[in-house]
Amino acid sequence: MNIKSSWLKSGFVDEAIPTSVNLKEEIIRLKKEKNAIIMAHFYQTNELQDIADFVGDSLALAQEAAKTKADIIVLAGVHFMGETAKILSPDKLVLVPDLNAGCSLADSCPPEAFKSFVDNNPDHTVLTYVNTTAKIKALSDIVVTSTNAKTIVDSLPMDEKIIFGPDRNLGNYLNSVTGRDMLLWDGACHVHEKFSVEKIIELKKEYPEAIILAHPECKQPLLVLANYVGSTAALLKYSTNSDANDFIVATESGIIHQMKKSSPNKNFIPAPPNDSTCACNDCEYMKLNTMEKLYNCLKFEWPNIDVIEEIRKDAVKPINRMLDISASKGL
Ligand code: 13P
Ligand code: SF4
Repeated sequence: MNIKSSWLKSGFVDEAIPTSVNLKEEIIRLKKEKNAIIMAHFYQTNELQDIADFVGDSLALAQEAAKTKADIIVLAGVHFMGETAKILSPDKLVLVPDLNAGCSLADSCPPEAFKSFVDNNPDHTVLTYVNTTAKIKALSDIVVTSTNAKTIVDSLPMDEKIIFGPDRNLGNYLNSVTGRDMLLWDGACHVHEKFSVEKIIELKKEYPEAIILAHPECKQPLLVLANYVGSTAALLKYSTNSDANDFIVATESGIIHQMKKSSPNKNFIPAPPNDSTCACNDCEYMKLNTMEKLYNCLKFEWPNIDVIEEIRKDAVKPINRMLDISASKGL
């Protein structure tokens, strides 16, 4: 495959697609022909979620990537999700529709600075959230996701000294629900930090029975106000099983697609951000992926994710520890 310089510059295949191409049909044909699996995170657009073979949260995507029999994994999500898939399945071709799909939380943890933090606290076990680069995972003892973080912290002896990074909100939340005093890295996700507690309280006056659902990457005052705190998969499950009718959803808006699919008669209200003029409930990195980019990356088998073997072999250990503990706890 000849990788064009314009692709390298843009970070995705920028070939124009003739209007005669039926994107949906062609994506389905290409993925069968190439024995590819399309995996999508809950924050992808509705049409990407609907065309995917597998839709899930960060943990489920990692679990699926570790066991798939496909030759090609197309990860419609952000860069660290593709990287996790590649670390777990190094012999497979792992494609992402747009290499620019980064993560502000992963960016808030530069490897050199985090290494100094770890080196300065040598007697600590290093727990890191999956929203990190491969280099950070390689410095870690155990990786966690929002689905299994509490379970994994609880599995460690109470007197074990722990570093947790990079999300300070998730770290604070875990400290409060596990009774720990983990040393926290000071990182955050720009999407989850923008929800307005004041506006949510106002909204509750309009919908007094509404259940507030929040992802643990939100700031503490919102987590205290929320009726239920959990990962994207946990919030979806909660809304499906709940008898309530109205839900205020404090996480990226893409999850509402699955919530509505599971509970078509319930009312899901995106939590209002501080700035009502922005599309702040959307993660702009997640939303860089489109059907056109998905089609082109499958067709041209680019852009793909590569992880240097030296880093991969260190990064796979803490991910496997996470998968092993999760499996032993039925997650
Ligand atoms: P989940 O672990 O709930 O999928 O969250 C991923 C994420 O990026 C949250 O911002
Ligand atoms: Fe990263 Fe936040 Fe986007 Fe999740 S929502 S991928 S944490 S920037």
